[in-house]
Amino acid sequence: MLKGHATAQATAAYASRFADLPGNFRKMIGVTVSSIGLGTYLGEPDSATDAAYADAIRLALAGGINLLDTAVNYRFQRSERTIGAVLQEMVKRGDIRRDEAVIATKGGYITFDGAVPPDPRRWFEERFIRTGIVASSDLVEGSHCLTPRWLAAMIEMSRANLGLETIDIYYLHNPEAQLAAIGRDEFRRRIRAAFELLEAKAAEGQIGVYGAATWNGFRVAPEDRSYLSLTEMAALAEEAGGKDHRFRVIQMPYNLAMAEAFTARNQRLPDGAMGNTLAAADALGIAVCASASLLQGRLTRGLPPLLNDAFDGLESDAQRALQFVRSTPGISVALAGMSSTAHVADNLGVARRPPAPFDRLMRLFKKVA
Ligand SMILES: NC(=O)c1ccc[n+]([C@@H]2O[C@H](COP(=O)([O-])OP(=O)(O)OC[C@H]3O[C@@H](n4cnc5c(N)ncnc54)[C@H](OP(=O)(O)O)[C@@H]3O)[C@@H](O)[C@H]2O)c1
Repeated sequence: MLKGHATAQATAAYASRFADLPGNFRKMIGVTVSSIGLGTYLGEPDSATDAAYADAIRLALAGGINLLDTAVNYRFQRSERTIGAVLQEMVKRGDIRRDEAVIATKGGYITFDGAVPPDPRRWFEERFIRTGIVASSDLVEGSHCLTPRWLAAMIEMSRANLGLETIDIYYLHNPEAQLAAIGRDEFRRRIRAAFELLEAKAAEGQIGVYGAATWNGFRVAPEDRSYLSLTEMAALAEEAGGKDHRFRVIQMPYNLAMAEAFTARNQRLPDGAMGNTLAAADALGIAVCASASLLQGRLTRGLPPLLNDAFDGLESDAQRALQFVRSTPGISVALAGMSSTAHVADNLGVARRPPAPFDRLMRLFKKVA
């Protein structure tokens, strides 16, 4: 296992090596991170995709991207294992230090082990039910669980897959999925118990900070069944960990077609007014990472010409779509899934440019509206 975790000093030293990427780095959770992060969600669970991701991750870490995002269930643990293997290799070779990279993963969904087993139900029963790690009644829709015992097992699994003593960011994966089956009181009880476990794991050094990686929760209206209140989640974290709790980062989709983090006033701010999630996160000292920055690849071609005007000097629609995300105030990192080295190279082209000024971004919103 690689010892240590991302540190303020080492991540700043990493950033200082990339003089050609002056607008690329920001501060988040006390460390310096690249404005573009590499995601590992999409792709087949096979060795060809493992190899492609490994090449992409090598190029990214060598080229100025120091935040990698994964989840235990992505490609049935293969994405975590690929990140782990590349980190081991690059640290051993002296290409990068462990404390220069920020590694984020997630737990909540049931995952297979590399491939779908011949009898999935039996496999799951033998592995998790009979061992007492989870009870059938703990599961929502047969696939999602946030009990402390389950999360502790998932953290162990992720640490082993990643080969890391400490996971820098540990997210509850789509916690709002629970709301399909339980009421708000029970949800709050479960989140609070999960946060207590995560605070204990942070105190033990198994994780750095924790958060919630969401899909609908922070985008929908307060009346929606899957709605998440950031203020309420921060209050639960404070109950679990006191004023210095480690609930310090959230992830939500944000891109040219899903801009609710900025446009939806669905969160209560500390002064009682309603504001967007980015404002609420800022007020609570919580960082925001954008997922699906390219709408899962659909924003990489055929964007309207007004985007060319707004973000001149960029060479591809993918670059323009990423520039939109990383230039939005309050977004720390634009995550882009990249299993191709050509895509890493293209996306690093954005990192070479400063983020677009706010008034340009606002003009874009006005033009679209
Ligand atoms: N609820 C959640 O927690 C949640 C949900 C969704 C996503 N995420 C996280 O956010 C990350 C990003 O989201 P995503 O992977 O779903 O979607 P995405 O980043 O919007 O799009 C990824 C797709 O875009 C392609 N691509 C990347 N750069 C490109 C370029 N320059 N030109 C053309 N195509 C390009 C990738 O192809 P190649 O693979 O071939 O390079 C991949 O097919 C995920 O990987 C995951 O880490 C979290």
